Amino acid sequence: MDIKSLIEKALEAQEKAYVPYSNFRVGASLLTEDDKIYTGCNIEIASYSPTICAERTAIFKAVSEGHRKIKAIAVVGDSDYTFPCGVCRQVMREFGKDVNIIIANSVDDYKIYTLDELLPNSFGPEDLDK
Ligand code: THU
Repeated sequence: MDIKSLIEKALEAQEKAYVPYSNFRVGASLLTEDDKIYTGCNIEIASYSPTICAERTAIFKAVSEGHRKIKAIAVVGDSDYTFPCGVCRQVMREFGKDVNIIIANSVDDYKIYTLDELLPNSFGPEDLDK
């Protein structure tokens, strides 16, 4: 799976966003260690706090199907380069210390970051190994 295909999947997922309150659509598409693809969109709830971001929808779908390692995740949103929120960065840290994070406006316009760039000096599972 190449980067452009992963972005295309994220753009398709973005169309599924359920966003009656913010009207801000986000899509995500990830690649597992064994090259499976999972996608997600943001889903908003009337009482607001149960709302879930696109990235976490995709990650939780993958984890709930037994995957534990994410190689890459592409994110598209309605702003110019929509970056993952802090909560999603921490969830990526759990399942993808070496993940490549692709922040895309389109298949031809994207930037790639490491998790360490977006969440430096992070806390993670290894910190609990005593
Ligand atoms: N949102 C995401 O889906 N991912 C992010 O990383 C940033 C924010 C969603 C949550 C909410 O539905 C909407 O964007 C506005 O915050």
